[in-house]
Amino acid sequence: MKTFTLPKKAARLIVLQRIELAGKNLKKIRKILGRYFFSNFITKYFLNSAKVGFEYHKIMQNEYLTIKEFISNEDNFFLSIGAGVGGLEAIINQNFPSKNYYFIEKNFISKKVKYGWTGKLNSEAYNSLEIQREFLKSNQMNDHQINIIDFDKDNFPMIKFDIITSLFSLDYHYDFDLYSDYLKKVSKKNTKIIFDTIRAEHFKKIFKNVEIIKSSFDTVHRSKRIICSQFINP
Ligand SMILES: C[S@@+](CC[C@H](N)C(=O)[O-])C[C@H]1O[C@@H](n2cnc3c(N)ncnc32)[C@H](O)[C@@H]1O
Repeated sequence: MKTFTLPKKAARLIVLQRIELAGKNLKKIRKILGRYFFSNFITKYFLNSAKVGFEYHKIMQNEYLTIKEFISNEDNFFLSIGAGVGGLEAIINQNFPSKNYYFIEKNFISKKVKYGWTGKLNSEAYNSLEIQREFLKSNQMNDHQINIIDFDKDNFPMIKFDIITSLFSLDYHYDFDLYSDYLKKVSKKNTKIIFDTIRAEHFKKIFKNVEIIKSSFDTVHRSKRIICSQFINP
């Protein structure tokens, strides 16, 4: 049985990052009691960690299958923007060991988690960088492979990345513009940038190459996953 080992407190973060894991009953409770109560009480005390670990692994394995054909053994530097605890990267690492992983994330949990577009405001976050590191280490990533950058405090790494991923974060919750200048600096001609958006066509004005690799029609994640390379105006 494939599953993730969850450090204490990780289940709560994972459910906030992947609300589909809350299941029907918890979602009903969220509707009745409100988002504040759900984020600060229900997810703290009423989750089955083993179940969350198992279901989260299943979701991340499926996400991995959507991008694995774009990863090769020559890719060494991976950047993830808003990876959550990093289930996808843990699976990439199990398949392509000994690579270098950089994570840009926020280090707080919104009091009243709202999902969806916050545009340039970018006010929502649901992560703890300490728990993220623990999660990655508990799931076979070595300390020296892990570089976690706090969006609000740290300097961003100035490295040319091979693969940049942002699942349901960049341009899904907040405007791509927030990162576009930075991404121009850290990408090469063949850097692959993969993210979820509801405006795939828009990116044909920004990148030379844009390909849709997945379409989600369900209400939680309605969007397209695109792979882009080569900025038109670098
Ligand atoms: C919906 S979750 C998705 C998490 C993960 N990518 C997944 O697919 O499970 C969005 C994530 O983006 C993070 N986030 C929000 N604003 C961010 C920013 N400006 N830079 C990086 N991460 C951010 C949140 O803290 C949260 O972990």
